[in-house]
Amino acid sequence: MSMNITIAVFFGGNSTEHEISIISAIQAMGYLDHEKYRIIPVYMTKQNLFYTHPDMENIESFRDIPALLKRSRRVFFLKEVNRTLMIGYPLRRFSRQEETAVDFAFPIVHGTNVEDGTLQGYLETLGLPVIGPGVLPSALGMDKAVMKSVFKDHGVPVLPCHVCTRKDWEDPERLVGTLMDSLSWPVIVKPVNLGSSIGITKASDEASLREALDLAFTFSEKVLVERAIVRLKEVNCAVLGDYEEAQASECEEPLSSDETTILSFEDKYMSGGGKGGSKQSGSMKTGGAKGSKGMASLQRRIPADISEEMRSRIRETAIKAFHALDCAGVARIDFMIDEETGELFLNEINTIPGSLSFYLWEPLGMPYPALLEKLIALAQKRAREAQKTTTSFETNILATAQIGGGKR
Ligand SMILES: Nc1ncnc2c1ncn2[C@@H]1O[C@H](COP(=O)(O)OP(=O)(O)O)[C@@H](O)[C@H]1O
Ligand SMILES: [Mg+2]
Repeated sequence: MSMNITIAVFFGGNSTEHEISIISAIQAMGYLDHEKYRIIPVYMTKQNLFYTHPDMENIESFRDIPALLKRSRRVFFLKEVNRTLMIGYPLRRFSRQEETAVDFAFPIVHGTNVEDGTLQGYLETLGLPVIGPGVLPSALGMDKAVMKSVFKDHGVPVLPCHVCTRKDWEDPERLVGTLMDSLSWPVIVKPVNLGSSIGITKASDEASLREALDLAFTFSEKVLVERAIVRLKEVNCAVLGDYEEAQASECEEPLSSDETTILSFEDKYMSGGGKGGSKQSGSMKTGGAKGSKGMASLQRRIPADISEEMRSRIRETAIKAFHALDCAGVARIDFMIDEETGELFLNEINTIPGSLSFYLWEPLGMPYPALLEKLIALAQKRAREAQKTTTSFETNILATAQIGGGKR
């Protein structure tokens, strides 16, 4: 059995969804084919220091992170002309360096600072092709205001919103006046760039609007205000593919307004008595994560309780949205239905969703290992295509160039 592809799985990092990312990554590593791929866990601390250790494939190791880091090796990545190495740090003075050639990076990170394209940009600059979305979709998906304008441009329905900046907030009277002239109560106020409902408040009068703005501006430079849907039904749908092909998953209905991106191993497999069918299921226990936000059982209904007509509308719109942002890999698109009017709005997109949304594919006959194989195949296809694209051309511009104006 040849083990010719090395995949470094990146997770954690400087984000409010650090812990959720650890769970997502360990679930994924548990289902990656270890006979076909060499899997290297790369844990990013909250300060974005990179560490690796084989124990990082087990959730139990993360019950005591300081102890785990003590026995782990800190690493950095070095680009050579034709390959990228992971190297132990600090360097060894008198012996051979520990170095591993890495073929693909698999970022499984959630939230601000990590799911915003910066990590992918860093990895791609280091010569590492990424599994999942590139810089552009993740960057667009991290700003709720910019995301809305791109969707609007593609005919994807979004709630109209007002975008306000900290500069606008310097004149509260005027800002509140403008907002009250054009919106009717209740409204929702949210920072453009956070997740997990942080800084989001509903306001029903002028006083609560002021408080909501005040809170939101502590989290972000940019805040959006939109009509609050009173009879709200939320439905999420994932999409898998790239610019050429895309398929929509089953729809889910989150049943609590809490962060509901993660379906724990227990939720999925223990309660039903099933085993999940993984060869590595021994490493899949998420016991240590119990009690963390969003982990309670029965937080979602799959499939969502919606009409067949609404289901197809959501799945078609999800694919349209996936293509609008030029997504790749698997994304989860979150919708809101106004049950008073029957209107459907796209609320937000998660370009690296919790648990990679594996639980939305199983009902359609795609087990998690097959989903991961598909994600890797998409990344291999993109890497092949990138090699065909010309990124440099010979020029003799430096032979004749002179810098004008400079007299040194
Ligand atoms: N316009 C709205 N009307 C009613 N509820 C909303 C609206 N926008 C957001 N919410 C509620 O707030 C939750 C969090 O908002 P969301 O935009 O998804 O932010 P986050 O990135 O924190 O998940 C949503 O899941 C929904 O329950
Ligand atoms: Mg959300």
